[in-house]
Amino acid sequence: MIRACVIGWPIKHSRSPIIHNHWIKHLGIEGSYEKQAVAPDDAPQFLASLKDHGFVGCNVTVPLKEIAFQTAQIKEPSAMAVGAANTLWLDDQDRLCAGNTDTYGFMTHLETSAPKWQGDNQSPVTILGAGGASRAIVYGFLKAGVKHIHIYNRTPQRAIELAKAFGENVEVKNWDQRQESPQQSAVIVNTTTIGMNATGSLDIDFKNANPNCVVCDIVYVPLETELLKNAKAKGLKTVDGLGMLLHQAVPGFEKWFGIRPQVTTELRDLVIKNLMAEQQES
Ligand code: ATR
Repeated sequence: MIRACVIGWPIKHSRSPIIHNHWIKHLGIEGSYEKQAVAPDDAPQFLASLKDHGFVGCNVTVPLKEIAFQTAQIKEPSAMAVGAANTLWLDDQDRLCAGNTDTYGFMTHLETSAPKWQGDNQSPVTILGAGGASRAIVYGFLKAGVKHIHIYNRTPQRAIELAKAFGENVEVKNWDQRQESPQQSAVIVNTTTIGMNATGSLDIDFKNANPNCVVCDIVYVPLETELLKNAKAKGLKTVDGLGMLLHQAVPGFEKWFGIRPQVTTELRDLVIKNLMAEQQES
């Protein structure tokens, strides 16, 4: 029996068990994927004794991603770039290894949904927000060869620090001028929490947008955020946040259970059903 888990504090609302247990069942694996509530103070000890708890690895969610990164003995470049880890596993010497699969999840979903997102290769990519998710996505675009990345963030200092960490291809823009971004961008990504549970507004209209601009949101509740709705209404290609959640789970599952799983429509529909049921309950 192979056991993996997701740790967080709280952990009740994690959707990861739905995804991994679907794959376990579908692939006929003798395994389990469980939720484990771990308080921040207990996280280093829990992770250091992952094997004693019977786990081959785990996912990590808020607020433990930075602690997990610091606790790990081996850190993949993906985790180093973000300074946080969401996927942990033990290597053949039982050393705790950390990766961050948000970059893979976002870029794979983008490539799958909008293969021509690079456009003319000249237009900038715009990222709204400068938190952990923003860092993972900036890293992904830089790895894909993007030369101009514009960061808009409410708190300028956070954007400045992010740009400093990633170098000269990343430029900090004024949050109050984010309205200008659709005119020139090849891709716009919302990594802020604005729009989550239909609260707040990014106040971006797509009236004069570059017609090839691909608009992405990493928020997936609701699935169609106000940003995506506005972009779609102007005929732009949109990419929702759910695909990132599904694809980021793939590398961890493969490491723990030894089979690379597929992100299918069946899985997507299963998670959507769960999200809708949860919304009705609240
Ligand atoms: P994550 O690690 O998931 O990216 P985070 O580090 O909490 O989460 O980052 C949240 C992002 O949403 C930040 O860019 C934050 O902006 P600040 O750096 O100014 O806090 C942004 N954000 C959250 N609420 C916002 C709001 N009401 N207006 C503008 N930006 C907001």
